[in-house]
Formats: sequence, structure tokens, C-alpha cells
Amino acid sequence: MHPAVRRLSCVFFALALAAGLRAQSTSAVQQNPNWWKNAVIYEIYPRSFQDSNGDGIGDLNGITSRLDYLQRLGINAIWLTPIYPSPQVDFGYDISDYYSIDPQYGTLADFDRLVAEARKRNIGIIMDLVLNHTSDQHPWFKESASSRTNPKADWYMWRDPKYVNGHREPPNNWLSVFGRSAWQWDPARQQYYYHRFYIQQPDLNWNNPQVRKAMYDVERFWIRHGVAGFRLDAITALFEDPQDRDEPYILGPDGKPLLDAWGDKEVESTYTDNLPEVHDVLRELRQVADETTSRKVILIGETYLDSVSDLRRMYGAHNDELELPMDMEVGFIGKLDVPLFRARINEAETEINGDQPLFVFDNHDNHRWDRFVTDDHRIDLGRMLAAVLFASRDTAMMYYGDEIGMVTTVPTRKEDVRDPIGITGWPKEKGRDGERTPMQWDSGIDAGFSAAAKTWLPIPPSYKTVNVAAEERDPDSILRWYEQIIALKKSDPALHSGEEIMLNTTDNNVLSWLRKSPGGEAVVVACNFTAQPQTVSFDLSAQGISGDRVKTLMKSPGEADTHTLRHIALGPYGVYIGKVE
Ligand code: GLC
Repeated sequence: MHPAVRRLSCVFFALALAAGLRAQSTSAVQQNPNWWKNAVIYEIYPRSFQDSNGDGIGDLNGITSRLDYLQRLGINAIWLTPIYPSPQVDFGYDISDYYSIDPQYGTLADFDRLVAEARKRNIGIIMDLVLNHTSDQHPWFKESASSRTNPKADWYMWRDPKYVNGHREPPNNWLSVFGRSAWQWDPARQQYYYHRFYIQQPDLNWNNPQVRKAMYDVERFWIRHGVAGFRLDAITALFEDPQDRDEPYILGPDGKPLLDAWGDKEVESTYTDNLPEVHDVLRELRQVADETTSRKVILIGETYLDSVSDLRRMYGAHNDELELPMDMEVGFIGKLDVPLFRARINEAETEINGDQPLFVFDNHDNHRWDRFVTDDHRIDLGRMLAAVLFASRDTAMMYYGDEIGMVTTVPTRKEDVRDPIGITGWPKEKGRDGERTPMQWDSGIDAGFSAAAKTWLPIPPSYKTVNVAAEERDPDSILRWYEQIIALKKSDPALHSGEEIMLNTTDNNVLSWLRKSPGGEAVVVACNFTAQPQTVSFDLSAQGISGDRVKTLMKSPGEADTHTLRHIALGPYGVYIGKVE
């Protein structure tokens, strides 16, 4: 996993609005309050999905033009990483205006059109809501920094310096996730401000009721523009220790503090992450959503947490917090370890009060799923990981390009890096450009992403063969696999909502499970986690199933077919999904 993320454990246009309201009446995403359960959510990094105006940067109209493709894939919702006006230091996660769209991505009217067109296809739009911090160019911060007495003086985390032997120092040892001290000196106020992320991303003071109100107004605004939900960025980081205590150092096996890519001693996030006050805000966000609309607006959390009990709390004691806190414990296991996957999936099944898990394997902060690849079976392994993601009892979150097997393409020269952490951390930390490269649509100019002479990040060389057009022509492509398994997740009653019971729990090579619906339908899934062929046999008598007949629903290309649970053959990273008869 990306080290930065690992530590995270750390306007109204009458016309557009009318378009939005019109579309509302036609969509299941709007009508069915449970649409998000068992859904597939597709993350789009807007800079990199589709450029419609030839400037080398993806935009909203580009996304709208690709909605038919996404509908064919079978997704239910799109999560857009931030598209608000921003100086783009952190490519949109540094917001300077919460009520508009950055001109490089389009206009608010373009956004409303995207929402309306998506709805017609039963696809909801999920906005990224960045609550922890703003851009240092946001008028709130400019005002707050202007003096110690202005009306917004207390909207950010200002602290006096500490003096050691007459030298000015930051108040404590807290580090930015993106390297170096989390405290930045401000000469005008003669104080430090806290920034968990870049210097240009000052943290808001969530103890200030005016800050809360301002952000709840932002939430209302986008609900009125028809969003289906929010992905709450860095949500566990809203509060810090009121006493500003030093974080403990993280020790290596030799008992000495570990050093990060910038040469600083790594610290825990005991006093800067997952503080209990976060839950009050989650309940308030939930309440605001419920008061603003009768539609179901879902809250998804970026929740890198250490344990399943922390994850459970994110749903709220009365299901009054997040619908879908991201479970990072399954998808971000560093290796293909069957017992670990089994244990973590089982925890999600049995230890979150029956709530809906949200599994995720990759995103714009972490290398793509190809990070698991160690041999020449990349696509077989991709199919296998997709089976774990889509055949589990979960809401599945996927990242654009996963479905075609896009590969992580890390810059090889410092001068090519665009993500600031890759520049300051080079060569130990090469940043996140590798997983943010343009979508590969076809084998033509700029892979069909753009018509520009130069795209914002280079098109990876793999586009010649790894692209949507080529894979749509190939019945055995990974894209076809994704389409089929997503369709099965929706249509098969056991895969749709059946409980998930681990099978053959002493097998260290093959991860197998049963999905069993209340109506008695049952499906077995077997995933070979190794490059060697394996065979499995299932005895389901303990699950009250005496027969051994099975009907194949999906299997990796080339596998022998079977009719009996007593003998299922799996090739390298092979998958078998069958309906028990
Ligand atoms: C989240 C985002 C990441 C961003 C950070 C700061 O972790 O996923 O991309 O840099 O928050 O907003």
C-alpha cells in the first residue's frame, strides 16, 4: 500500500435544476432506499477518464459521453474525486470553493447534466466531500490567517510556538501524511497552523460550530443538485488531541524509531486520527442528509482503521452514521494469503452486526490490483481478485481501468512526476501518478482519452493491447469477465444477498465460500490463490445441503467443466462459481 495512505490508519441554474428534478422520478437509485446494498461503485479520477475539449485533462462532459459504457459494465454509482475549484496542489483535494466546479472540468450546468444523464441509466453520482481541510487559497483561510481577531480567526488549527533554548519550534512532533512537520509557521499571525496533508491544505477546526454549519450547508447544496451520496475524505482525521500531546514513535524490529521517506522519525496517529468526536459529526452529517431530502443519500467513509471493532463503530450504534465505511482490511492485505483473506472476510461477515461491508482493492492513492502480480498470470489473477470482490456479500468499490486490467505505471524520472509527494519524496516515495494514468479506450491517439498533443500524465505503453475496444472484441477478456460477474452479482439471489460461509477452512491454496440466500438458493465460489493447478471437493452437509450436483455459472476460460461438488479443477489463479442443485 502507498505509505502515505498506510499512515492514515490511518448556484442554481433553474434549467439545470429542473433537468435534475425531472430525471429524479425515473431512477431506481432514487426510488429504492436500499439501492446501495450489493451495489457496484466505480471510482473515477476525473482528470484521467475522458477529455472532451482537447486540453489533455479529463472533464465532466467526457464522463457523460462514456455513461453508456459504464451502464453496460453494470455499475450503480460513480464516485468522482474532487471537481471543485482548486489550485490543484493535491489535484482537487485542496478546495478553494465548495459551491462550484473547477473550469478545467466544466461548469455546474455540465455537472447537472451528468447527474441527469447518469440517472437515466440508473447510475448515481457520489461527490467527494473534503471536510478535514481546505486549500490555503480558500477565502476562509485567507481571512483566518489575516489576524488573530478576525471573525474566522478560530476556523483553523492555530497554535503558539514552543521555544527550546530560545529557538522557535512547532508545538509538537506531529507529522504531515505527506512528509515533514504537520505545523507551518505563519509570519503574519506569528503562529503555526496544522496541516495533516500538504502545507497548502490547512486543517479546519471542527470544534468550532460555525465550521460545522458551513460544511453542512455545502452538504445540502450538493444534495439539492441531486447527488446520490458522498465519499467523506479523510473523515477519521477531523479531530486532534485537545492537549496537543506528542505522538509515540513507531519502532522498528531493532527497537529504534523507523524513518520515513523524508528522513523523519515515523509517528503513530494515536492523537491525530479516529478520535471519538468524529462520530458526533457523522451523526450530524446523516441528520442533515435526512432532513434535506426524502431520497436516500448515502455516506461512504475513507476509513483506514486498525480493527474490525473500529470499523463496526463507523456504522453508528443505531445505524445513524455511515452506510458504507470502507473496509480496507480485506483489499489491502499485502499478499495473496488465503488464511488472512478468509479471516478478514469472515470478520466482515460476522463482526459488523450484519451491516453491509464495502470492499475495495485499489484507488487513486494506492497501486492498482496488479501490485499482487508476481508471475506471468496477470489476467488470471485479475479475474480471481474480481471474484473475491464481486462474489462476496458486499458492496463492491472498483477503480476506473480495473476492468480492463490497467497496470500501475510509476514514473521513472523525477522530472516526470506530477504528484508533489513524489517530487519531495523521490526516490523512496515516487508519488501516486502510477495509478492515475489516463483511461485506455482504444489503440489510437492518446488511447482514445484525448486529442491533445500532450496529456497531463503520459499514456502508458500498455494501451496498445490493454484497452476497452480490444477487450470488447475478445470473449475471454478481463473486461468480459467483469461484465459477467457484475451481472451475476445482481441477478443471482444467493450472490445478490445471501450470507457468506467460508468452506474448506484448512486449505491454504484455495479460498472457497458458500453464498446462501434466505430462500435456500446456494452458490459455491472457489478461487485458486496460486499459480499451480488445484482441485477442490466440497461436502456441504454441515450447511444442510446433502446433494453434490452443481451447475456452472462462471469459470475461468479453459477450465474443465464439472457437474459435481466432489471434483472441481482450477488452473493457475482459476475461479469456479457454481449453483448448487
Ligand atoms: C485522501 C485522498 C487523497 C488526498 C488526501 C488529502 O486520502 O484519497 O488523495 O491526498 O485525502 O485530501
